[in-house]
Order: sequence, then structure tokens, then C-alpha cells
Amino acid sequence: MFNGLLGLFSQDIAIDLGTANTLVNVRGRGIVLDEPSVVAITQGPSKKVVAVGHEAKEMLGKTPGTIEAIRPMREGVIADFAVTEVMLKYFIRKAHKRNHLIRSRLVISIPAGITDVETKAVREAAISAGVREVLLIEQPMAAAVGAGLPVLDARGSMVVDIGGGTTDIAVISLGGLVTYRTLKVAGDRIDEAIIQYVRRRSNILIGERTAEQVKMKIGNVHPSCKMDSMELKGRDLISGVPRSIKITGEDVREALDDVVQLIVEACRSVLERTPPELSADLAERGLVLVGGGAHLAGLDLVLREETGIPAIISENPLLSVVQGVGVVLEDLDKYRGLLF
Ligand SMILES: Nc1ncnc2c1ncn2[C@@H]1O[C@H](COP(=O)(O)OP(=O)(O)OP(=O)(O)O)[C@@H](O)[C@H]1O
Ligand SMILES: [Mg+2]
Repeated sequence: MFNGLLGLFSQDIAIDLGTANTLVNVRGRGIVLDEPSVVAITQGPSKKVVAVGHEAKEMLGKTPGTIEAIRPMREGVIADFAVTEVMLKYFIRKAHKRNHLIRSRLVISIPAGITDVETKAVREAAISAGVREVLLIEQPMAAAVGAGLPVLDARGSMVVDIGGGTTDIAVISLGGLVTYRTLKVAGDRIDEAIIQYVRRRSNILIGERTAEQVKMKIGNVHPSCKMDSMELKGRDLISGVPRSIKITGEDVREALDDVVQLIVEACRSVLERTPPELSADLAERGLVLVGGGAHLAGLDLVLREETGIPAIISENPLLSVVQGVGVVLEDLDKYRGLLF
């Protein structure tokens, strides 16, 4: 009875703690926060937080020696516990009216591959922000729920989540991951491939932010994608001065070729390990693409050609995981089996 009353007044929270972006969905209010997973901190013994989220991302690659802009999670793992904790607490408090926090339940999606120690760190960070109960869900499962796949049914559903740090590929049936693979190749590696390409071809060094902008504007992976070209600026590696060059959609496609092959191979290997009854379901219903990488032009076409099964882009790829966590939060009784 007491718990029931508390539930009435509490605002439960769903979080997608991603390596590139963190999103928060408050029950009854929808998505209230969507910010980069970046923290800017002063260097030296008294490490002070200068900025978190959007403001901190603006500083990436542009900080003076005294400030460092950190992405505390990389490649789907927590690279810096302390900073992840600060960031998570900051986002929870920002998203939420603090006075209600004590009664709130929190469901948070974590990378499927993270260790027990990391899981514990996430849990403790959330508890120390002041919530009542913390439940965890694996990201591929949350993504599948968010994409509207029937994860609890005795039917195969396949989800490919291309985020910042990792690509998670999972075949789900009866509320569990039947076959699963995580690949440390996703948005960050795509940016890196663009940086390397420009460096090799033109002897110009560009930053991570610039590479990401190229990817978002003219990134494509299939010959049928007709993309514009764009101007970019970087530092000439020989003369040391700033220089600008032109890069075309075709250049970018060439730059991304290897990375895309790795993603295709991983999808194939998951399909090869999938039991035949479930394969038959997938052949019929296809795989669903989620995560920011799903926006890469032509990726659905490449996957369809290379795996032989239809690839469907989820309606809101960047929101699928947090929406899935939100759905679970709305009906904890139904989805209890997915949580730990
Ligand atoms: N239009 C776009 N085209 C290509 N890539 C994009 C586009 N928009 C966003 N991205 C990329 O998507 C990635 C972020 O996606 P997302 O928010 O799903 O990752 P995440 O959930 O934080 O990471 P992870 O799931 O690996 O922990 C970034 O690398 C970003 O550059
Ligand atoms: Mg993600």
C-alpha cells in the first residue's frame, strides 16, 4: 500500500546511457533530455566539472591545456568510472525535479557486453544520485522493444544497433538474446576512417567533429546514393598551416568501405549461428536498424544485398533504445523478465 502510494507520486525514469549520447525519458513527460555523453573537466589536482553534455561537446578538440573534454565511455565500455558517475548524476538531476527523486525508479540500458564491475558502477552512480530502485536492461533488448519488435513472442526478431562506440547485433526470441554479437566498430570508427582517408589522400589532418559532420552530410555506403560534395578545413601536415579541400560523396563511400564490410561480416556471422526456425522468421520479417548509424545513406541497401534479408530502418533510430526502456518502464510486470 505504501509502495503503491509512493508510485502514484513518483516520476520513474528511463535512461539510455550511450557512448555518444545519453537520453532520459521521464514517465508521463516523454524524452526530456538528449545530450552528448561528454564532460569537460579542469586539469590538475582539483578536478572541477566545467560543462556537461552539449556545452562540453562544443569543447571537444578545442580545449586549452587547463581543461579536458572527456568522453567517459568509449567502445561500449566505461573508460572512466568517476566521470561517468558525475555525468549520470548530472543528467538525472537535470531531467528530474529533485524533490521527487527519492521515490523514483530508474530503468537504465547498458551495453550488453559490460562487466559485473561496470554494471555495479552504473548502479551505484544512479543510487548516489538519489533514486529508490535501479533496474538494468541490455541495450539490444531495449532497442528491439523500442523498434516495436515482438521480443516476448516465440518468433525471431533481429536488431542491428549502430551507435557511437559499438554495433550490437542480436537475434531475440521469447524475451532473450538467442544469438548476439558486439563489434567495437560504429560511429567513432567511421569518423576515424574519414580522418585517415583525408590524411592519406590530401595530407590534411581534420578533427573528430569535422569528420562527424562529413559523415552526417555526405556519408553514404551504396553506389545508388547520389551525394553532394563539401568543403572541409584542416591542418596541412607538411606546411603546418590551415588548408581547405573538397571531398565528394564517392570519396566518403570509399573511405567507409572497410568499416561497412566489418559490419556486414558481423551480421552474417550472427545469422550463421541462428537456429533455422528463427532464420525463417528473419527471412520473412527482416532485420531492424537502429542507432545513429542507421542514418548512414544506403546502409539498408548494402545489408539487404549482402545478407539476403530485408533491412528496415527504425522510425527514430536515435531514440529507439530510450523509447524501448520507456515502454518497459510503463509495464514493468509484463517486461520484468528482461530486467536485472
Ligand atoms: N545522420 C547520420 N549519419 C551517420 N551517422 C550518424 C548520423 N547521426 C548520428 N550519427 C552517428 O551516430 C552515433 C551516435 O548514435 P547513438 O546515439 O545511437 O550512439 P550511442 O547510443 O550513444 O552509442 P552506443 O550505443 O555505442 O553506446 C554517432 O557516432 C553519430 O555520429
Ligand atoms: Mg546506443
